[in-house]
Amino acid sequence: MAKWLTLLGVLALFTLGFLASLKLRPPAALEKAEALAHAEKKTLAPLFPAPAFAFPDQHGVTVTGPSLTGKVWVANFIFTTCRTVCPLLTAKLVQLQRALPGVDVRFVSFSVDPEHDTPAVLAAYAQKWAPDETRWQLLATDAKTLPAVAAGFHVTAEPNKPGELDPILHSSVFVLVDGAGMVRGVFDSEHREDLKALQNAVRTLTNAPAPPAPQGAPVGVELYHALSCATCHEAPELAPALLGRAGSRVTFDNGLVTTFDADYVKESLLAPDARRARGYPLHMPAYDHLSGEALLVLTKYLLETPAEPTPTSDVPVEVDPVCHMKVRATADALAHTHQGHRYVFCSRHCLERFAATPGVFLPDGG
Ligand code: HEC
Repeated sequence: MAKWLTLLGVLALFTLGFLASLKLRPPAALEKAEALAHAEKKTLAPLFPAPAFAFPDQHGVTVTGPSLTGKVWVANFIFTTCRTVCPLLTAKLVQLQRALPGVDVRFVSFSVDPEHDTPAVLAAYAQKWAPDETRWQLLATDAKTLPAVAAGFHVTAEPNKPGELDPILHSSVFVLVDGAGMVRGVFDSEHREDLKALQNAVRTLTNAPAPPAPQGAPVGVELYHALSCATCHEAPELAPALLGRAGSRVTFDNGLVTTFDADYVKESLLAPDARRARGYPLHMPAYDHLSGEALLVLTKYLLETPAEPTPTSDVPVEVDPVCHMKVRATADALAHTHQGHRYVFCSRHCLERFAATPGVFLPDGG
């Protein structure tokens, strides 16, 4: 019997590992917004009016459509506990913010998790990703009006199918709105050309001058923070730590190993999905737009900087007994107590599987 249970556990692990390794593609339900992204983005012709809403931002100030009148703004849809697409989306939004310094534009992130994402939670999230950004408003939505607002933007925000890693399914587009509240373009965050087009479109609508030529040589530590490397890689539940690893062994999803050296860092930046580090559902964004010089400087920084105690080291990181992913064991982590021990989970899905049959997931059968 115990043998069969072990076998079942191993099988479950393989299935989960496989699910996690699939790149999370938006399913058919999301095509509406994505279709718009491809058909209309170049003309900037008015598409449809942005829907009405009134939600508090991370400072508790109510933001409405009319309160944004006269401003060009970029909307997107995220939730703070999401571990698959949102950190990628937010990394891209922060890159866009940094590519548009001094431009009079607003960035409005609608939370699609009204239950969890309060203004205080959103404030902490903004602080983590872009502490100096004053143009970014993160909205704490409510369950009653969120569906109408999502529909008004032609995007999806709904509970995910059981079995998916993240509990909420939502569109990964950026929506560009002009000062009169008209949507002028929908941009697919998964396409680099779309992100470039969005940057240009913001400059066009705000009459901002062309970007200044980069000044001075890039500095490693600055790139590491400005490109959001630190935000993901200093959160052990999102991505592996990078500093202090020169010359060490790296094990991949498929069990092969390599050495953490300049070639490997370069490959990770240019073609991150070629070989994936073990245990992370999130995909590392490609940085293939960096100049050769920036690549060299960043690589040198990673290989020559010793490991630092991460700012999050006071929170223990534990392993989800179901999928074996790393999870921060904070007070509000998804947890379940079994025989006096508190287990933490990456997702509601893992928690529910564990709660149903804890013995399957514990080495000694519980
Ligand atoms: C949105 C989060 C995110 C951002 C931003 C990010 N990464 Fe990553 N990175 C990941 C994840 C997740 C992995 C592990 C999965 C994989 O290998 O794709 C990873 C893997 C890596 C690896 C391989 C590490 C290993 O243990 O095998 C390197 C090197 C790396 N990233 C460098 C960088 C650098 C440099 C930057 C900034 C220019 C950066 N990353 C920005 C999420 C991110």
